[in-house]
Amino acid sequence: MSAQDEQRELRIVGFLCNWCSYGGADTAGVARFIQPTDLRIIRVPCSGRIDPLFIVRALLNGADGVLVSGCHPRDCHYAEGNFYARRRLEMLKRFLPITGIDERRFEYTWVSASEGQRWQHVVTEFTRRIHELGPAPFFNPVSEEEWAKLALDGAARGASCACHG
Ligand code: FES
Repeated sequence: MSAQDEQRELRIVGFLCNWCSYGGADTAGVARFIQPTDLRIIRVPCSGRIDPLFIVRALLNGADGVLVSGCHPRDCHYAEGNFYARRRLEMLKRFLPITGIDERRFEYTWVSASEGQRWQHVVTEFTRRIHELGPAPFFNPVSEEEWAKLALDGAARGASCACHG
């Protein structure tokens, strides 16, 4: 990869929980820690709110990488949202290669509101990894109508399969 490619901004989506990681990113900004500018942050109430399909659809629709960050285990403001998130996201990591997506394009972590320096480190390392991988291969994005049709076709097939009569 040329030096020019390394400099080029890639599309990285970050899902950050409102109470910890978004605060951590804010702390890093207020402290003026230098960070890569590739990340586009989506603030969610809790990492437990993140449906793994958000990540899959982001990656299928042109994101080069997706980073999820929430409160540290036992610090979730909804008690156990990040435990649910951890279970789902760990499954997603194993599932991504089946879909043809390089699992290195996805990462999840925990950053608290006071950890501006940790946030800087996490975002810098993840961005470096995505730059090493380069732009994601192009997937022909599926439209909303096509998603709905696929769901209907699947339901129709399920109704007439051997195991469902
Ligand atoms: Fe941050 Fe639940 S509120 S992970």
